[in-house]
Amino acid sequence: MAAMTAAPGRGPDRRVYGRRKGHDLTPRRQALVDNLLPGLRPAIRTDGRVDLKGPVGGHDRLWLEIGFGGGEHLVWQAAHNPDVTVIGAEPYLNGVASLLAAVEEHRLGNVCIIDDDVRPFLEGLPAACLERIFVLFPDPWPKARHHKRRIVNPWSVDRFADLLVDGGQLRLATDIMDYARWMMTAVWPHPAFAWTARRPGDWRERPADWPGTRYEAKARKAGRTPVFMTFVRKPRT
Ligand SMILES: C[S@@+](CC[C@H](N)C(=O)[O-])C[C@H]1O[C@@H](n2cnc3c(N)ncnc32)[C@H](O)[C@@H]1O
Repeated sequence: MAAMTAAPGRGPDRRVYGRRKGHDLTPRRQALVDNLLPGLRPAIRTDGRVDLKGPVGGHDRLWLEIGFGGGEHLVWQAAHNPDVTVIGAEPYLNGVASLLAAVEEHRLGNVCIIDDDVRPFLEGLPAACLERIFVLFPDPWPKARHHKRRIVNPWSVDRFADLLVDGGQLRLATDIMDYARWMMTAVWPHPAFAWTARRPGDWRERPADWPGTRYEAKARKAGRTPVFMTFVRKPRT
């Protein structure tokens, strides 16, 4: 594994490297993007601070999923935790449209959407406002020269430590062993985090309150075995 030296969130490179858009949206999904999405976006002030009194503040308890893809995990969590506002960040428009369709179908009133890069949002939130952060099967960027694009990195782990409440959870999953080691290297030695695993099953098996995602299903079909890591934010002293 290459040395983890980059802190790409801080530097000038704020490009989003993945796809922004796939096939054309159906008229119904385009209508959801035009009409439903604007009311679900968190209000961001001109100074970049996130206004927690906007739609994001529907509940005091906030969870954040970064790169929700098709939104399967987010929808499950929102449906099973109605007293939590689940914020999802995803720059891929077709994924956002899938989530909007599910929000409408299941009449979810506790979902908030950032249809863009999560990184400015990580900078605009106040400290200790999130109970959980999920980063599930992030883009692996396997080539060493692309490692600096990885969304889990020293900069983002510092942000996660700042944003999580004491006892809050950081849940990470990947099917790429190099990325699993990379995540471990970034989070395990971090003074704010403690890994919860006590036995191999704790990271080899997905916990019952953690539904599978489309990407996980693809990985398993291709013969790759995912790992699931839960870290707890240690109490601030
Ligand atoms: C490999 S997919 C996994 C999707 C989903 N979590 C799953 O397990 O099926 C990674 C996702 O992260 C999103 N992503 C990439 N960079 C991001 C960023 N800076 N902020 C938010 N999401 C991002 C991508 O658009 C993509 O949908």
